[in-house]
Amino acid sequence: MWPNTNITRMLKIRLPIIQAPMAGNVTSAELIANVSNAGGLGSLGAGYMSPENIRESIHRIRSLTDRPFAVNLFVPNKPHVTAKQITSMTRILKKTCKTLSKDIHPVKPPYTYAFADQLQIVLDEKIPVFSFTFGIPDDTWIKELKRRKIRLIGTATTVSEACLLQQKGIDLIVAQGMEAGGHRGSFLETEENSLIGLFALLPQIADKVNIPVIAAGGIMDARGIIAAMILGASAVQLGTAFITCPEASAHPGYKKALLNSHDSDTTLTRAYSGKLARGLKTRFIEDMRRYQQLILDYPVQHALTRSIRTAAARNNRINYMSLWSGQAASLCRVMHADKLIRTLDREVRKLIKHIPA
Ligand SMILES: Cc1cc2nc3c(=O)[nH]c(=O)nc-3n(C[C@H](O)[C@H](O)[C@H](O)COP(=O)(O)O)c2cc1C
Repeated sequence: MWPNTNITRMLKIRLPIIQAPMAGNVTSAELIANVSNAGGLGSLGAGYMSPENIRESIHRIRSLTDRPFAVNLFVPNKPHVTAKQITSMTRILKKTCKTLSKDIHPVKPPYTYAFADQLQIVLDEKIPVFSFTFGIPDDTWIKELKRRKIRLIGTATTVSEACLLQQKGIDLIVAQGMEAGGHRGSFLETEENSLIGLFALLPQIADKVNIPVIAAGGIMDARGIIAAMILGASAVQLGTAFITCPEASAHPGYKKALLNSHDSDTTLTRAYSGKLARGLKTRFIEDMRRYQQLILDYPVQHALTRSIRTAAARNNRINYMSLWSGQAASLCRVMHADKLIRTLDREVRKLIKHIPA
């Protein structure tokens, strides 16, 4: 079983360990290259990046490794917001801005970089692996990506989403459990109706699809990796475990908060982006609880809170930053990414011997 699986063969990697794409200044080129050079699959979280930045990052990764890596994007959804709603949320956020000595103004479209422009870079650069979340790209894009022999990884939080991804011709599925850090990838039902723990989700997806499944959510060490593989995964995707690597470009205060965290320190919130995401509890999340009904659809809320997040990071005001984290963050280690990959491999080989045949 370990380390050769249908996924290592398909992605041409040595170990079935994927460093999760993490948009928002976490996945530096050094992190990605070190993971890929050590035999795993590094992933660039490019969802918030301009097409030019994506291209630059790809070139930088390629200067550091000749191993496969993935680029990840967010499949867009149309937000339903009015100018009046934006004005009223801006007014609410003014109080936080005052605390941070920052001004805030209503945002106007476009709220994000165009998905088509971002994806064109993936096509032009012939990236070996393209992963995505929040939905499924249109058939024409899928056809174009497949024509260039780019492997496709979609994200599912329910069995129905996994079945639809398979039906659309996607090569691999990330089964994202509710323990996972960052945004929920849900796209068929409401996020609240798609909160399934990884132990329950994995075998149900594995029983219903015949394409390989990647487990994500709360996996930090060999115990989680082996459990996921027994439950039906052919690879694992770890996010939080890589944030505390020295090469990860996350804010030092964020890394420290993860290392000092406990099992019950995360929560699910829409306060930062408008889309449900798991992160460490912060003062900002707490302050926004009473305005739940007024939070704007993704990505408008995200665009509006950008100045708050930037000012908070600049001034080390951790309590106003988004500290995305899975439920097992307390198991984070401070280790270079290549060493973490090698350590996970060694620990799996050791632990696997204790499992009855
Ligand atoms: C900081 C952070 C940012 C993330 N950004 C993305 C992203 O851009 N695209 C994506 O598909 N998943 C993203 N995720 C979710 C991961 O792919 C994965 O599901 C999650 O990290 C697994 O749970 P874990 O953090 O407990 O390992 C992010 C997770 C974190 C912690």
